[in-house]
Amino acid sequence: MPTRQAEIRRYLTGVDTTTTQQVFTDFLVIGAGIAGLRAALEAARHGSVMLVCKGTFSDSNTWNAQGGIAAVLADEDSFDSHIADTLATGCGLCERGVVERVVKEAPALIEELDAWGTAFDRVDGQIDATREGGHSHARVIHARGDSTGRGIAEALFSKVRQAAGIHVMENFFTIDLLTDADNICIGAIGLKASGSLQIIWAGATILATGGAGRLYRESTNPDCATGDGLAMAYRAGAVLRDMEFMQFHPTTLYIAGASRALITETLRGEGAILRDAAGQPFMNEYHPDAELAPRDVVSRAILDRMLKTKTTHVYLDIRHFDKAHFRRRFPLISELCESFDIDVSADLIPVRPSAHYMIGGVKVDLHAATTIPGLFACGEAASTGLHGANRLGSNSLLEGLVFGKVAGQSAATWVRDGHRARHHRIEIEIPVSDRSRLDAEDVRNSLRALMWRNVGITRQAQPLIEAQEIIRFWQRYVMDKVFTTPFGWECQNMLTVALLMAQSADRRQESRGVHFRQDYPGRNDADFARHIELCRETG
Ligand code: FUM
Repeated sequence: MPTRQAEIRRYLTGVDTTTTQQVFTDFLVIGAGIAGLRAALEAARHGSVMLVCKGTFSDSNTWNAQGGIAAVLADEDSFDSHIADTLATGCGLCERGVVERVVKEAPALIEELDAWGTAFDRVDGQIDATREGGHSHARVIHARGDSTGRGIAEALFSKVRQAAGIHVMENFFTIDLLTDADNICIGAIGLKASGSLQIIWAGATILATGGAGRLYRESTNPDCATGDGLAMAYRAGAVLRDMEFMQFHPTTLYIAGASRALITETLRGEGAILRDAAGQPFMNEYHPDAELAPRDVVSRAILDRMLKTKTTHVYLDIRHFDKAHFRRRFPLISELCESFDIDVSADLIPVRPSAHYMIGGVKVDLHAATTIPGLFACGEAASTGLHGANRLGSNSLLEGLVFGKVAGQSAATWVRDGHRARHHRIEIEIPVSDRSRLDAEDVRNSLRALMWRNVGITRQAQPLIEAQEIIRFWQRYVMDKVFTTPFGWECQNMLTVALLMAQSADRRQESRGVHFRQDYPGRNDADFARHIELCRETG
């Protein structure tokens, strides 16, 4: 049974359905990464779609994805091998049925993406594949070198633009999901770019809002990854799962003062070496697979090395790469390094780990259905069970693609069963708070530092307890306010999600996958071979 909590109020903003602008749609899709775009395309085959995202469609983790998307395409590879790799990396918490479905549906959906205009890189006419940690075959396919996400997102978005019946609204900040007296999801309320509130009544709602990497000071994620979808689903009463599992990426470009940028793992897949401050390679000391060990192992090894050498970073060495090949194969990273005057044939690239991917999320079943009827979830916002306690690199774009389609299909079935968009009477007034106001910007920055320090790559009881106390303190002064801008609502969402993460990390008194407890360094199958679920008290 999920643990219930009651401290968060149901809606962030007042709602009055008699005076707020409203529109009706069969399907509301919130989020425009790979999952949201694929869901919208599927749903559009069955009715009208509104696709909303809080920034522009290029503000997503999909857009920034470099390495690739995993799929079994080569004759010498097999579904069984991809399934086995995914299960092994997931450390006992993967849902086997989900793993099998995602792996087996990959080739057909990749073919579809290819036909829709994603220019996957090819060698001798065949789609080229490379390696990442944990994959026992080269099965990570890529587009435009290290711009895979962009290649996929552009193809899907252009398809969405051409589709009849999909209305796209960028710069629409969804504030809350709306639910009726039976706790069925009936749409959402948000703020339009014009500054007015809007209610979208929907037959079915698909949440594809992405992750929460920006809850951490060090992050590969774009600014938009503030966990909004997780927080709004929690407020609406959905069960959230595996919130302790934040995956840290081992190699983010570290230049003090500059924003962090992902340095793709496929570089290590193609021979890059990690070196410490003294120039020594060190990964062999930590894992037999060295640079291609699972990400959590590499991240902790780097952290350990940074501590031992009292430095802020380590280095990635690609001096032995052919420079012309590097430029062609990794154009984004090549440009990034040049912009900081790093000559990769002579210089080492300074890197350190940072928050990358939220494994946990809104619990869904094999049909992308959440625990709230009428609400479906896919992509990073969802917890499908594919990744277990640790995600195999490049399985997430694949999951977004497969579950985006599934969510669209399931939503269509729900609407076909008679759940149509209609007006409901909802009137919520939020009392004015008489508590002091904290500066939202300061809270956000302090929260990100706290999460990095206390709920980071390595964890232990006391810092986790302290994190919960501090977050609860901030919540007392922030959650009772009514904000009128996305900046404030994001702050409320970040505090909500951060507490769930700290609580789950505190509760999992063992180490498994990406969750490492210094005070419980071993895996404890007797007590923790299970998911941790959280749910707000409703009604
Ligand atoms: O390293 C990377 O390119 C990241 C891939 C992923 O997170 O799947």
